[in-house]
Amino acid sequence: MRHFLSLKDFTKDEILDILAIARDIKSGKLVPKLKAKSLAMIFEKSSTRTRVSFEVGAAQLGMYPLFLSSRDIQLGRGEPMKDTARVISRMVDMVMIRTFEHARLEEFAAYSKVPVINGLSDDFHPVQLMADYLTLQELGRDTNPVVAWIGDGNNMANSLLMLASKLGFELRIATPKGYEVAQKWVNLANGFAASSGANIRFSNDPHEAAKGATVVATDVWTSMGQEDENEIRLRDFAGFSVDRALMNRAAAGAVLLHCLPAHRGEEVSDEVFEANAETIFLEAENRLHAQKGIMVWLDRQRA
Ligand code: CP
Ligand code: NVA
Repeated sequence: MRHFLSLKDFTKDEILDILAIARDIKSGKLVPKLKAKSLAMIFEKSSTRTRVSFEVGAAQLGMYPLFLSSRDIQLGRGEPMKDTARVISRMVDMVMIRTFEHARLEEFAAYSKVPVINGLSDDFHPVQLMADYLTLQELGRDTNPVVAWIGDGNNMANSLLMLASKLGFELRIATPKGYEVAQKWVNLANGFAASSGANIRFSNDPHEAAKGATVVATDVWTSMGQEDENEIRLRDFAGFSVDRALMNRAAAGAVLLHCLPAHRGEEVSDEVFEANAETIFLEAENRLHAQKGIMVWLDRQRA
């Protein structure tokens, strides 16, 4: 049985297959009805896009989506992940979890009788990256893209690193000193890149990374769970705003991706955000189509 925990566990062909399903669903060419009848969605962190896209997406696929906030279920009072998995997976057909340590997700998956989807962990946000690449495909930006990541070496950066190293596109990751992508993910990605041909570079220089990029991507400087570090991060990330000067370094017509929510005046200026709003909100809409693609693909694996 397959889970969807990180793109590191997927081949290029599998990633492209899921995206093809998502495109067919979006265009109306494919109107799937799943054998899986219900989706439990466990949230240990806040969410707008992930919750709405999975809840509506599951309903559109004929499933019953069940929203479970850790504030309300026994998990939030300390019931172990492995016990929660053994209970819930006997009652539903698929589970999506948003949590803190990636190991919590892996523990749930190890004890689950049904496929588990990562709706964001401290290490990865793979469902977002599927929507991001779907957006690049839709905009015709997926041919030899040169992607610049400007910001934190966080769950989004790690996921983009996995995507680039699997699909084989050029990625420059620029983070402030002390906020680099963890070495274990760099090593893993370098291994994938050796076979895919991806050109991946790391630096602490956002303007150098943005030079000639066809796609610029960023995310908040303080992720969920890091709120105590907000003040120091604001200081450490100075110079890493995606503003007009930075976008001017990118290729003409470069697009900006942002997974949202955005903090204007921090990782992105209001001007640059609004100039790229069409792309950013298409990216947000594509969460719905991409998430359906993932659920359909997982359902097919079990057939
Ligand atoms: N991008 C994203 O995952 O948004 P939410 O936190 O609102 O789900
Ligand atoms: N890096 C952010 C992404 C939010 C969708 C976080 O983890 O909070």
